[in-house]
Parts: sequence; structure tokens; C-alpha cells
Amino acid sequence: MIAKHAPVLLLVTLLATLAGCGAPATPAPPFPPTLELPTRVPIQPTPDSRLVAVTPQVQPTRVALEPTATPTRLRPSPTPTITLIPPTNTPLPPTETPTPSPTPQPDPARGAQLFANGFAGRPDVPTCASCHYVEPVEVNDLVGPVMYGIADRAGRRDPNEVSAVAYLRNSILMPNKYLVPNEGDKVYAVGGMSLMHQTYAEELTADEINDLVAYMLTLRAR
Ligand code: HEC
Repeated sequence: MIAKHAPVLLLVTLLATLAGCGAPATPAPPFPPTLELPTRVPIQPTPDSRLVAVTPQVQPTRVALEPTATPTRLRPSPTPTITLIPPTNTPLPPTETPTPSPTPQPDPARGAQLFANGFAGRPDVPTCASCHYVEPVEVNDLVGPVMYGIADRAGRRDPNEVSAVAYLRNSILMPNKYLVPNEGDKVYAVGGMSLMHQTYAEELTADEINDLVAYMLTLRAR
């Protein structure tokens, strides 16, 4: 009996199964909850105490590295390339006339001129040569000492002067700072006051003074 109806039973069972699938009486059980993948949270650099602790406390010691290999000298390229600048036809702008230097080099020749001939255009400013010989003389009939060999003496005259140049400059600018001792009955100063002209500091230019000093430095005893 069973064996006879077996195919039918099987069919019924199959149909029942199919019907059950097609129209479920109860709502299908929900899918198992999907596994939520953990969202990636970017790791914020936290002021971690461990990181702080890593900060090197000791200053790194500089270790001079020995040169590992002898530096190879680069051979100069056998044919140096010369870039030829094509000649331009543009004429060069006229060069500016060089402005005369405000402080020209002291000129002993100019100083000699001033000393012997005086100061052009200023007749009131007395000429040095009116009181000073520059060559040795039998009798000094001028007011000031003879300048012959002054370059040799200038550095030794005043113990308070640093140099011959300083002494010569101050002889012009401050005649009373150092007084040349009288020579016999030849009097060069009276009452602490030099008989030399007193106001050259106001009358002469810096260049004139420099030139005069440069000239007097050439007056050596021969
Ligand atoms: C009116 C006269 C007079 C004139 C001008 C004069 N001197 Fe004199 N000069 C003297 C007398 C006097 C002395 C010595 C007394 C003294 O030490 O100041 C002297 C001293 C000097 C000395 C020191 C000399 C030494 O042997 O140590 C120098 C340097 C000098 N004069 C330079 C000049 C120059 C440069 C001028 C011109 C710019 C000039 N003098 C113009 C009278 C003159």
C-alpha cells in the first residue's frame, strides 16, 4: 500500500513543502543581524606621555665623520666652452665725471706751495715762510724756529703727543699746546703764549692742514 502510493506521497510532500515556501503563514524569521564592521576611527595623535618621554633629553653629540674616501678631483673639461658675447652696437653711455674725493690724499707738493707762497685769496692769513726758514741759515732773523730737519724732531718734541704727525698738526692748530724752548736770546714765546699766528685753526681747511703736515714730514736734515 505504501509502496503503491509512495510516488503520490512524495509529490504531496513536495507540493506541501513548496506551498509552505510560497506562502508562509508566519513572517520569515529575520536575517541574523549583520555583523557591523567596526568603523575605522583615525587614531588621533594624542599628547601621549609615552611620546613625551621619548623626547631625547641629551643633546646629540656631534661626531665628526672621517672622510670616507679621498674626494676625487674633477678633471676640468678638456674643451671649456667660451660663450662669445656678440658685440653690441649700442654706444656706452658717457661715463660720469668722477666726483673729486672729499678728502684727497695729503699732498706734500701742495703743502710746500702753501708754506712758501701762502693761501690764495686770503691775504690776511699769514704765510708760514714769513716766520720760518726751511733751509739752514747762519742767523735766524725770522720770528719762528727754522724748519730744517723738523721731520726728525717732530716725534720727539712733545712727550704728550702720540706721533710726529699729531705734533705737527697741533703746532698749527694749537700753537700754545707745546712751546719750542727759547734758543739763547731767541725768544719764541712770551708768557706761555707762542709768537706764532694763533688762528690757523679757523682759517685753514682740513686739506690745507693735511698738505702742510705732509710737506713738513719731508723736511729732514740731510
Ligand atoms: C708769526 C710767525 C709765525 C707764523 C706765521 C707761523 N709760525 Fe710756526 N712758529 C712760530 C713760532 C714763534 C714758533 C715757536 C713757538 C711755538 O712752539 O709755538 C713756531 C713753531 C712752529 C712749529 C713747531 C716747530 C718745532 O721746531 O717744533 C711748527 C711745526 C710750525 N710752527 C709750523 C708753522 C706752519 C705750518 C705755519 C703756517 C701755516 C706757521 N708755523 C706759521 C711762528 C710762526
